[in-house]
Amino acid sequence: MSALAERPAQTSTLRIEQDGAYLGAFVTGIDLSKPVSDADIEALGRAHAEYGLLIFRDQDMSADDLIAFGNRFGTLSVHPFAPNSGVKPELITFRNDDKNPPFGTDCWHSDETFRIAPPMGTMLRATDVPAFGGDTMFASMSAAWEGLSDRMQHFISGLEAWHDFKVFKPLFGESAEGRKQLRDYEDDYPPALHPVVTKHPVTGRNVIFVNPQFTVRIKGMEEAESTALLTQLYDLVKVPEYQYRHRWKNNTLIFWDNRSTQHYAVHDYFPKRRYMERVTIAGTQPLPAFPAADLKFVRNRKARKPEEFQGNYAGHAPKKV
Ligand code: SIN
Repeated sequence: MSALAERPAQTSTLRIEQDGAYLGAFVTGIDLSKPVSDADIEALGRAHAEYGLLIFRDQDMSADDLIAFGNRFGTLSVHPFAPNSGVKPELITFRNDDKNPPFGTDCWHSDETFRIAPPMGTMLRATDVPAFGGDTMFASMSAAWEGLSDRMQHFISGLEAWHDFKVFKPLFGESAEGRKQLRDYEDDYPPALHPVVTKHPVTGRNVIFVNPQFTVRIKGMEEAESTALLTQLYDLVKVPEYQYRHRWKNNTLIFWDNRSTQHYAVHDYFPKRRYMERVTIAGTQPLPAFPAADLKFVRNRKARKPEEFQGNYAGHAPKKV
């Protein structure tokens, strides 16, 4: 038990106020550098699922406090690629400045959907941010689902898509050693298959669960079909009504629901300094909102092969040359 957890919890003065139509709420009346009661943790857990994004201003706290607060919602996971402090691998440290431009986060995504069980949520805290610039954008993917026509909802129900850590592959470089390392990571993180429409485990809402950073292909579709449909679904994050734009100040901590939202870090501040600390709370395998589509109904539109030829590659096989 940490020293923080041994001290008595503060008496609740917690207030949660919705700030956006589909996501975003401000949390006040709580000091996250002090122990938080079980009742407040429970209320925050419910609000996190309900509003998708909780914003706590003026939280002057240490990295250990952040880790302790994150731990109250589950097990912290270690990101296989993001920079961490070394001493505490679960603490991601984004230290972007004139020597270290930001990388990879200016793309809409939910965190780590290349995992079979992606995180349930992420906490990010600003330790040193510019006076303006470097906002984080969010989109509610349950609002995006609700906005689709009945026809479109019906069409995508039961589809599944592959997710892969493709954005991080350039980190391995072209050397023999780099390629070997990449193969090891590919063994550890093989592509993960997730429902295109998931059911949120707390709210029960349906959520569109594909994102341009990690999703690669819809199962059972030809590449052209898959690309066209994924592009259409990716574009839903751009609908202003589904969005929330968060403006940072030092000592602001935010906690987003990775199961129902996507986010995008606006990279408009380089070469200014933007230092952040992040912890990620492990999640469970996404639940399908609908039973998976039966693949024999997903036809191959060019070559109408009978079903028994599925998986027959006409003599093509890997060869060492
Ligand atoms: C992230 O994608 O986790 C980073 C978001 C941010 O830096 O605003």
